[in-house]
Amino acid sequence: MTAVAPQPDQPGLSHLVVVQLPGPSSAWNDTLAREVCSQLELGDIILFPTSPVDIPPADRDLLLGRKQTSSAYHKNIAYRPSEYRLTGLDASEQAEAAELRRILRDYSQASVEFLSRFLLPYAGKWKLDYASFRPVEEQGRPARLHARNDLLHFDSFPTRPTNGARILRFFTNINPAQNRVWLTSQTFESFGPQFARKTGRLDSFRSPFLRGLSTVARTLRLPGSHRPPYDELMHRCHNAMKEDAAFQQTTPKSRWEFPPNSSWMVCTDCVSHAVLSGQYALEQTFLVPQSALVEAQRSPLAILENLAGTRLTL
Ligand code: SIN
Ligand code: FE
Repeated sequence: MTAVAPQPDQPGLSHLVVVQLPGPSSAWNDTLAREVCSQLELGDIILFPTSPVDIPPADRDLLLGRKQTSSAYHKNIAYRPSEYRLTGLDASEQAEAAELRRILRDYSQASVEFLSRFLLPYAGKWKLDYASFRPVEEQGRPARLHARNDLLHFDSFPTRPTNGARILRFFTNINPAQNRVWLTSQTFESFGPQFARKTGRLDSFRSPFLRGLSTVARTLRLPGSHRPPYDELMHRCHNAMKEDAAFQQTTPKSRWEFPPNSSWMVCTDCVSHAVLSGQYALEQTFLVPQSALVEAQRSPLAILENLAGTRLTL
């Protein structure tokens, strides 16, 4: 396997690192794997022009809607690997659910199998989060402001706090003809602090009184009290970015086209990203704990704790 980062160095912006599989005779090793993990953690995009994950043609046909017309195949669907469960379908779509669930399970397992060999420092240490099927054309897809994916943002899940773990996502474009098009801008290291300051919440986490109140709220299991300060800040940054029309317009951007049958992976909590167009993608999310990172001291958690002057995890 070989990895190349061909662009000139542009500090603060995400770069594309193209990985050809299999590479020349050399075997993949720990040093190369650490290099890729470092690139990911600091905000680069790792692209496999030919996906390392095999999707059988019959499964592809089903996902592309060639063999059926059920609405089950026409909306975004989440798959929870730990429960072997799909969300996003209603009762009338249960007939399709079993097949869709099996296809997403296979994609999830194949992604885990590949990344266990490729991202050696993380293997077995991550928490497997949801996988998803994204059959809806992204261009012009209606959504509430905070749910819009065509606006630059760092990912943060409102209902699934990571408590400092990194969000690593592995995408595959299964569209046979159409690229999936993204924009990216500066990384979290470059302008996360600016948005974190804008939230006005950094000081509050240092206050012994407010920390005490949070502990009481958690003991009483009050709604929202389980969310670590880290996730609260990240989510506020996510919203602040989407609300800031001037930032969306003026920030420097790079445009990326992910071709049919390519896969790419990104730490979406530090790569400011937006999807402009594309239809039919599969995705698996991994939560990588601080203890497995190769650049922990430059992670969003470390950056925010530095700014806040206190611990932000529970
Ligand atoms: C996102 O995470 O914002 C969406 C990315 C995609 O679906 O391509
Ligand atoms: Fe996102």
